[in-house]
Amino acid sequence: MKHIAVIGVGYVGLTTAACLAELGHHVVGVDMDEGKISMLRQGRIPFSEPELPELVERNHQAGRLDFTTAYPEAMQQADMVFICVGTPPTPSGHADMSQVEEAARQVALSARHPLIVILKSTTPPGGNAERVAAILASHLPLGINAPLVVNPEFLREGSAVYDTFHPDRAVIGAWDASAAEEVAALYAPLRCPVLLTDPVSAQFTKYASNAFLATKISFINEISRIAERVGANIHAVAQGMGFDDRIGAEFLEAGLGYGGSCFPKDVLALSAIAEQHGYYSQFLHAVMDINAGQRSLTVAKLDEALGGLHGKRVCVLGLAFKSHTDDVRESPALSVISMLCQQGAYVQAHDPVAMPTAQKVQPSHDTLKYCPDAYTAALGCHAVLIATNWPEFRSLDWSRIHTSMPGKVVLDGRGLLSPDEIRAMGFEYLAFAN
Ligand SMILES: NC(=O)c1ccc[n+]([C@@H]2O[C@H](COP(=O)([O-])OP(=O)(O)OC[C@H]3O[C@@H](n4cnc5c(N)ncnc54)[C@H](O)[C@@H]3O)[C@@H](O)[C@H]2O)c1
Repeated sequence: MKHIAVIGVGYVGLTTAACLAELGHHVVGVDMDEGKISMLRQGRIPFSEPELPELVERNHQAGRLDFTTAYPEAMQQADMVFICVGTPPTPSGHADMSQVEEAARQVALSARHPLIVILKSTTPPGGNAERVAAILASHLPLGINAPLVVNPEFLREGSAVYDTFHPDRAVIGAWDASAAEEVAALYAPLRCPVLLTDPVSAQFTKYASNAFLATKISFINEISRIAERVGANIHAVAQGMGFDDRIGAEFLEAGLGYGGSCFPKDVLALSAIAEQHGYYSQFLHAVMDINAGQRSLTVAKLDEALGGLHGKRVCVLGLAFKSHTDDVRESPALSVISMLCQQGAYVQAHDPVAMPTAQKVQPSHDTLKYCPDAYTAALGCHAVLIATNWPEFRSLDWSRIHTSMPGKVVLDGRGLLSPDEIRAMGFEYLAFAN
């Protein structure tokens, strides 16, 4: 059993903290957000993530998981510290390292005995791990050692707990071999492949993995644009491709493209790192351009189907960047809503869980209304856009929706519905190369 401090209890940190506690460790989560910490102390979770509330409650009750805003309190017993704070993009596209650097400084200032610092936040290679190690070294009390280990996180929001207990691999990058072994030991109960490497390669693995997944999405979207022109059905094409083990079936859904807090910022940061090192990555720029293009293509499809958007009423189902999360960071739905409103459309939107987070970043206004359910959102609309792959949208009473709408267009931006069934009800079913 280890004493572990987790700095930053967002999507990654809270999941990491709760899962480590479930594995039997004593964990204290630290966050500078007092609201988040007081919610957690009252047994409430600050965001939506399946399985996490039960896990946090169970371990909190068992005395293995606690929360504080005070670093010294969390660091008192800690022999391992996970840094899980945000690394959002700066206006130039680089990762903003200020939260990580401040966390490292606070950890070092509060350290009273040797410990291992594990960097889980996604941080670009090319000097950042070295800088974090230098911050630790320069703020630690004399005689105290705190080796840095880079251990990027690969969990997916919406299945974060499952992913943490069933990782495909752990990537551990360290200059200090014994610190790397100690971190590897934490993963032993999870029986996953463990790659021991240097910190820069560990950091790079995370960026390369996300860039590859984003590429798969942009690839199928590019192929869908060609498929549409030649009359091929992209779902059949993707299925046929996906049976090939070398390709794999995941991330081959043509639609609105990727969003969220990771793919957009990580692909952008990788291209920014490349440029900083004198290389312009045409490839990564194409991935980003295709992704951005899917959003305008969605608006163009609605514009064409409705004979212009001005004064038209569009129901947008789904606000989160994907299903099973309330995260709307870089959500394709929100940018499409902005474009629709700019072109004079009225938008009625609904999401099963992401309404509060969406309303915070894009409050309702004259032409944007948030609705309590999908039926209210569709009422009086000319078109429905499915913007998030929530499975519950599949089982809506689509004939009820049909009767409540003066227009009959359904644009399935996530390939969620059965085209034949929807068409049989009298809708004009649109998708991407369907
Ligand atoms: N969200 C994901 O799906 C995911 C997956 C893999 C990797 N990552 C990476 O993990 C990191 C964290 O992502 P997230 O989505 O959990 O972020 P988040 O924004 O949900 O959480 C970050 C938390 O850190 C806290 N924080 C910031 N500065 C702090 C400080 N100095 N001291 C204490 N707390 C501080 C914030 O208050 C916030 O609660 C990022 O680098 C991200 O790229 C995220």
